[in-house]
Amino acid sequence: MTTIRAIIDTDPGIDDAVAILFALASPVFVILGITTVAGNIGITTTTRNAGRLLALAGRQDVPVFAGAAGPLACKGFDVAEIHGSDGLGGVAFPAPLAEPGGDAVAWLAARFMVEPAGTVDLLTLGPLTNLARLVTDHPAAARRIRRVIAMGGAVLDKGNIGPRSEFNMAADPEAADIVFGAGLPVILIPLDVTRKVRASQPYCDRLQASGKTGAVASAALIRAYFQNTTVSGPGSESRPLHDPCVMLLAEDPSLFTLEPMGLSVDLGPTRDAGALTPDATRPVIHVAMEVDGARALDLLAARLTA
Ligand code: BDR
Ligand code: CA
Repeated sequence: MTTIRAIIDTDPGIDDAVAILFALASPVFVILGITTVAGNIGITTTTRNAGRLLALAGRQDVPVFAGAAGPLACKGFDVAEIHGSDGLGGVAFPAPLAEPGGDAVAWLAARFMVEPAGTVDLLTLGPLTNLARLVTDHPAAARRIRRVIAMGGAVLDKGNIGPRSEFNMAADPEAADIVFGAGLPVILIPLDVTRKVRASQPYCDRLQASGKTGAVASAALIRAYFQNTTVSGPGSESRPLHDPCVMLLAEDPSLFTLEPMGLSVDLGPTRDAGALTPDATRPVIHVAMEVDGARALDLLAARLTA
């Protein structure tokens, strides 16, 4: 089996938590560390949540480093109404087993300089603030990243913050602009496809019935997401699993169809700050525009319940 050596940059976050539990459960991933960012909720809580998830999985070997407490330039906001006041929907987790290290960006820079170039993926599940700082302050380290796989944005689909803007991009548009302009090997997974990877209550039953720690916790997290979000009409019987798509693509790229494109980022003052527009003058990145949702859900369940 080919293994994937990766660092997770995240703002847990209910769907971040499911993504992290998946990566920790899958034998394909070697997780070198977790860096945190303010996003769904403040940095103290996202950092503590990373530690709580690792404690649940019994993974003292994975270090956590606290990153940006806010966006590069704009005013931050959180979505605690979706993720709960503890960021994890009120689901019970053990306390972190270790104190987090400081300065995620300094750690990322040092780690990417130590690792052979082009061997470690950066999997980003939140606003791109830490990566943008790495690009700006430590460009040689950023150039050594094998692949950035990022959840964020909406290309043809509608946004979830403004009419066209998605949360991770809206939370730090300037950071997204730096990352998409840097010429890095980026794969972006927008709402266009994450909305097609949807968990239903029977799917949660399937996870829970396995009795496996990560699967039972994931079922509880997704059920909390059901409780915190009101949806009517088509799709109301399921919820999208945005961030797990990053790990799913890393592990099995054949689940997704990628399209090369450049993207410009709306840096204006409206609710569409962070909105993405295809732009042939920008560096080419790869954007996931199709997904086999059923197969993606099967892989997620297979790893969590093994
Ligand atoms: C993204 O925003 C966050 O609320 C989720 O964790 C995910 O990363 C979806 O738009
Ligand atoms: Ca997230």
